[in-house]
Amino acid sequence: MRGEDMEKFYSKELIEELRDIQDTYGYIPEEQIVKIATKKNIPKAHLYGVISFYSMLYLEPTGKYIIRLCNSVSCRLNNSTEILRSIKEFLKIENGGTTKDKKFTLEVAECLGHCGEGPVMMINGQVYSFLTPEEAIKILKSLQ
Ligand code: FES
Repeated sequence: MRGEDMEKFYSKELIEELRDIQDTYGYIPEEQIVKIATKKNIPKAHLYGVISFYSMLYLEPTGKYIIRLCNSVSCRLNNSTEILRSIKEFLKIENGGTTKDKKFTLEVAECLGHCGEGPVMMINGQVYSFLTPEEAIKILKSLQ
């Protein structure tokens, strides 16, 4: 693929447009993908590729709160696996799932950039660090 084609497919403008759609709908609906593909004259498959590549873009509706729990090495050494187990049990969902009431979506994430504060989770951009399973559940219960 030539440089100018790469730019068309993966431009900052395209990502911003996708993020705007994400903000409006809570995910990227199929009809919006078709619209962008037509407008920019790029294959839908490339848009799906871009959306899949960026973990903050979704093809399905998500919960009001997106829980991103780090399970990379440093957090795992600090018991993030136990926190994940507690959250899954409490919300009755698996990784990638959304609760029936559409309140929570759970995602196991790669390093969230707070390795010295693990275990770490992020909920809609808010970072929670030095977690225990009990604290994680208390945080979830506090969210309206
Ligand atoms: S390893 Fe968890 S925040 Fe970096």
